[in-house]
Amino acid sequence: MSTAGIVILGAGQAGFQVAASLREGGFSGPLALVGDEPGLPYQRPPLSKAYLAGKVDAAGLALRARDYLIEHRIDHRPGSRALAIDRVARLVHLDGAAPLAYDHLVLAMGSRNRSLPLADADLAGVHQLRSLADADRLQADLATARSVVIVGAGFIGLEFAGVCAARGLGVHVVEAADRPMARAVSSETAAFFRAAHEGAGVRFAFGAGLRSIAGRDGRVAAVDLADGTSLPADLVLVGIGVIPNQEIAAQAGLATADGILVDALLATGDPAVSALGDVARFPSRFAAGLPGGDVVRIESVQNAVDQARCLSARLLGRPAPYDAVPWFWSDQGPHKLQIAGLSAPTDEEVVRPASTGLSVFRYRSGRLSAVETVDRGADHMAARRILALGLDLTPDRAADPGYDLKALAKGGA
Ligand code: APR
Repeated sequence: MSTAGIVILGAGQAGFQVAASLREGGFSGPLALVGDEPGLPYQRPPLSKAYLAGKVDAAGLALRARDYLIEHRIDHRPGSRALAIDRVARLVHLDGAAPLAYDHLVLAMGSRNRSLPLADADLAGVHQLRSLADADRLQADLATARSVVIVGAGFIGLEFAGVCAARGLGVHVVEAADRPMARAVSSETAAFFRAAHEGAGVRFAFGAGLRSIAGRDGRVAAVDLADGTSLPADLVLVGIGVIPNQEIAAQAGLATADGILVDALLATGDPAVSALGDVARFPSRFAAGLPGGDVVRIESVQNAVDQARCLSARLLGRPAPYDAVPWFWSDQGPHKLQIAGLSAPTDEEVVRPASTGLSVFRYRSGRLSAVETVDRGADHMAARRILALGLDLTPDRAADPGYDLKALAKGGA
């Protein structure tokens, strides 16, 4: 009998959670968790929020203490890069270490930031934000920054804008689309956040193209836009989306298409290899009618954790298709955005009148597809349940503040 055990590539939220759930579920074989970042597996979401604001330190970001990994016999290999997968020999080749044998291989390599296709995007003072190392570099420059330019009005850019505005810095946000978070939210929600950020002093340039980043003595000095505007900057953050780290899977002959393709059990075409989290593209009933077809790749903590639980259950002999409701959050300045479900930019928008915050119900082909809420946690929780159960919430009822969402969510039990 083989005893090579399970090898997990990627020690982010998804990879770590597979290891933890396997051990907590009784898996007793060898278990390796390989990640190219140094240190303990950690939470990324606070990096652009509480960590930069100085409210939590690096130790406070760790998903578990080192003792947990030792006690659970998780062979964590930080600073270790997988170079290639040999599916015939069932080996992973590592940079600077002996190959690792596996019975089952879990691919959880996540995603990396897209970089700006511009010369001088590597000047000192130009940053990205994905890893703890990125956040530490950014933090160091933030201490002396006065004028900040943010490229991309997505989640990362706007969370950082909130942090900068709270410090009283001058902030310009440069966005290619005509509104913030166009990929993820309705025009109503986008307008709410635009007004909130502008109220805090943030200035936006929408529909903007970048011409160049100008430097002085090797450091960034300005961001020049295609329309001729020059925005002075001593710090630039580029947050223009992510791409999946799928290369070693593709080189090993696994199917990829903006993500490693898996089935509803998170299995690739090779029964000995699974994939999950940011790097995986999977079938989902919540993706029905989206431009990409019925398969989707989701970048979120919820997706990483819930897929890890689903996959570890299968590896422990309890297979079940992945079917969790996608949900997301983003803390921007004093506001909390929460999204349940998956929307297309063309989904209908139905606003539910509210005394504070905002709730927007999205409909695709007449069916509830997603619910966006700002500072309305109870509506978000009800929405998650309504979507999970596939309950019929008509637009009329969604728009009626007297209609009891919580009762609908509960009554569906
Ligand atoms: N110039 C200006 N804006 C651009 C450019 C460009 N060249 N290219 C893309 N953008 C804009 C997009 O229109 C979009 O509004 O950048 C924004 C990127 O937003 P997201 O896709 O939300 O990506 P990002 O903010 O980088 O967040 C990356 O981290 O917080 C997590 O899960 C979150 O998936 C997200 C990931």
